[in-house]
Order: sequence, then C-alpha cells, then structure tokens
Amino acid sequence: MKFFVDSADLDQIAELNDIGLVDGVTTNPSIIAKSGRDFKEVIAEICKIVDGPVSAEVTATEADKMLAEGRELRKIAENVCIKLPLTMDGLKACSNLSKEGASTNVTLCFSANQALLAAKCGASFISPFIGRLDDISLDGLELIEDIRTIYDNYGFETEILAASIRSVNHVKDCALIGADVMTAPPKVIRQLATHPLTDKGLAAFLKDWEGTGQSII
Ligand code: G3P
Repeated sequence: MKFFVDSADLDQIAELNDIGLVDGVTTNPSIIAKSGRDFKEVIAEICKIVDGPVSAEVTATEADKMLAEGRELRKIAENVCIKLPLTMDGLKACSNLSKEGASTNVTLCFSANQALLAAKCGASFISPFIGRLDDISLDGLELIEDIRTIYDNYGFETEILAASIRSVNHVKDCALIGADVMTAPPKVIRQLATHPLTDKGLAAFLKDWEGTGQSII
C-alpha cells in the first residue's frame, strides 16, 4: 500500500519522507488555504522533497478552464498530479489531461458509479472520501470495497486512493480491502507506529539493560 501525506506542511512532509514513509502527497484548496502559502510555490517545494506524485487541485469549474489550469500546474514539476473534482466537467478535463500524458487524481468521490466514470476517463487515481461518508452515517469502507470489486472485475488500472482518512483503523481497514494508496494527515501516519505495549516493553528492556552496565558503542 502506498502512503501519501495529506498536507502542505513542508517540515512534516520532509520528516516522514526521511523515515521512508512518503510515496506521494495530496493537497486541496482547503489545505493550501490553511498553509497560508502561495499555491504554486508550496507545490514546487513539496515536489523537490518528494519523488512521487504531488496532487495539486484545479479551482475552475468549467472543463476548458480546468484544462488550462491543469496544463499550467503541470509546468511546476514533473511529478505534479492534477487533481480534478468528480463533475462532468472534471471528467472531461481528466480525459483530456490523461491523453496528454498527465497524472490525474479525480477527487470528491462518494459513490462507486462516480469511481467507474473516473476509471473510464483514464484517471490515474480515484479519491473516495471515507471520513466524510462516515460523518453522515454512511459506510466509507463499503465504498472502498465496492470500487475494488468493480475495478478488479474489469481490470481498470486507476489506483484507489483512500482519502479523508481520520483514524488508524481506517488505514488498517483500507489495507485489508486492498486500496492501492491511502492519504492521511501526518498525525494519523505517526499514530500508526504507536502502541502502549511497545512503550511499556521498551521501558522494561532499557531498565534491564541499564542494570548490566554495558554499552554497545
Ligand atoms: O485531501 C482530501 C481529503 O483527504 C480530505 O479529508 O478530513 O477534510 O475530509 P477531510
């Protein structure tokens, strides 16, 4: 399973990348607004840190304008992935950008049929938002399962990028279902490493080791 970081925080991205946990980055207009940074500048800086795809989202709502924005964003770096909303205009722009060889991420997906359309339009990634479905008492994980089944039924190569991940259990469940990628905030990625028994066990090992009076170096 590939790990993308859902953030525009350069320090956090770099730290996780140094550990070896970053296969890509996703951003959206809300994340860029929160960063308080210039959009193109921050995407360029992220692209210098991370080798994998870095999603940058268009903000136009008409296909022709999305296409123009996508072409502009592609100039920033080779690993920019153009993120487009799951609307008919977004799908049209996705088809065109994909034909031009761009990496594309179709976002704001809330149904299996939407995911089917994105695959037919050549999307590199489909982003189902599981947390936001859970927020309205629907089952985000069921959506990931449905998309997995449909894509496997027909051999679609679009990668399932589980997004709007809010907890470590979301990560585990998406991995069990077979999502190709998950994108999560840095905090959730760090939480994956923690377990109270790990902390307790390590404290006991270190205490016993101290008692031996030895040192490795
Ligand atoms: O990048 C899109 C997505 O991951 C947003 O998550 O928590 O705002 O629903 P959230």
